[in-house]
Order: sequence, then C-alpha cells, then structure tokens
Amino acid sequence: MKLFIDTGSVAEVEEIAGWGILSGATTNPSLLAKEDGEPGEIICRICDLVNGPVSAEVVSDKAEGMIAEGRALSELHEHVIVKTPFSTAGLAACRALSDDGIRVNMTLVFSANQALLAAEAGATYISCFMGRLDDISINSTDVVREIVEALRPGGTTSQVLAASLRHPEHVVTAARLGCEVATAPAKVLHQMLDHPLTTAGIDRFAADWKERPEFGEWLKGLVESRAAATH
Ligand code: G3P
Repeated sequence: MKLFIDTGSVAEVEEIAGWGILSGATTNPSLLAKEDGEPGEIICRICDLVNGPVSAEVVSDKAEGMIAEGRALSELHEHVIVKTPFSTAGLAACRALSDDGIRVNMTLVFSANQALLAAEAGATYISCFMGRLDDISINSTDVVREIVEALRPGGTTSQVLAASLRHPEHVVTAARLGCEVATAPAKVLHQMLDHPLTTAGIDRFAADWKERPEFGEWLKGLVESRAAATH
C-alpha cells in the first residue's frame, strides 16, 4: 500500500518527504484554507516535494463548474489529481475529466454503491473517509472491506484510497483490507514511527558500541578511507 500525506502544509510535506516514505499527497479545501499563501503555489510546491500524485479539489456544485475548475487545476502541475466530491455532478465531472485524460480522485465516498458508481465514472482514486464513518458509529472497517470486495471482481483499475485516518490503526486496517493507498495526516505518520522497543534498542546498541572505543575509531577510519578513495 502506498502512503500519501493528507495536508495543506508545505512544511509538513517537506519534513515527511525527507523520510523517503511518501508516494503522494492529498489536500482539500478545509486543509488549504488553514494555510497562508496562494493555493496554487502551495499545490505546486507539494507536487515538487512528493514527486507523485497530489489531489486538489474542485469546489463548484455544478458539473460544468467542476469540469472547468478541474481542467484549470490539472494544468497547475503534471502531478495534480483532480478531486471531485461524490454527487451526480461529481460523477459527470469525473467522467468528462477522465475522458480528457485527467486523473480524478472521487472523494466523500462512504459506501460500496458509491464506490461502484465512482469506478464506472472513471475515477483513478476512490476516497473512503474512515474517521468520519467512525464518528457517526458506522464501522469503517466493514465499509472499506465491502468497497474493496465489491470493486475487485469487476477488475476495475480504480484504486481505493483510505482517507480521514485518525490513528495508526486505521492505516494498518486499510493495508490489511487491500487499499492501494492510505492518506494520513502528519500527526498519524509520526505516531506510526513509535515503538518503545525501537528506542530502547537504539540506546542499547549505542551504549554497547561505546564500551569499545577502538571499534568506533575503526568505523571512523573506514568511512574516511572510503571518502578519500572516492575523491
Ligand atoms: O482528505 C480528506 C480527509 O482525509 C479528511 O479527513 O479528518 O477531516 O475527516 P478528516
């Protein structure tokens, strides 16, 4: 499963892209509205940083408007994926944009039926919001499982993108259910790093190595002779 970052913050993308784990990013109007700066510049900067798909969302409620906004957004950067909300207008826009070769992320999908319609409209990504389902006491694991199971036998090329992830367990669930992508906020990506045994293990290795200072000198010499040989 590919990991995307769900954010409108260039600083967050800069930091986490440095870990080498990001394949893309997702933004939405709410996330971008929190940021200073021009949205187009933010989107382009994120595209350059992740060097992969970056979703930018339309806001019109009519198909025609969504198509116009989608075409314009797609021209901002080659990595832009146009996000359209699930609705009849969103489906029509998804079909028109996909027919033009523009990749679409159909967002706000909360059921297998909506996912089947999004796939038929040509969506490249289908975003299911796990956290928002759990917020209203609908089991997001059941819904995502149903979506994956409903799409697979038809051989669709649409990818299931798990979104609205609130904790690391959502990410693991998305991977286990066979989602192609999970988009997580920086906070959740940070939480995924943590394990007390990793921290304790690193401390132990460092302490044991320090007990043998001559080994430290040996490794330093090894690095220096390699650097000298390659210059
Ligand atoms: O990108 C959309 C999605 O991830 C929103 O998450 O936390 O606002 O439900 P949230």
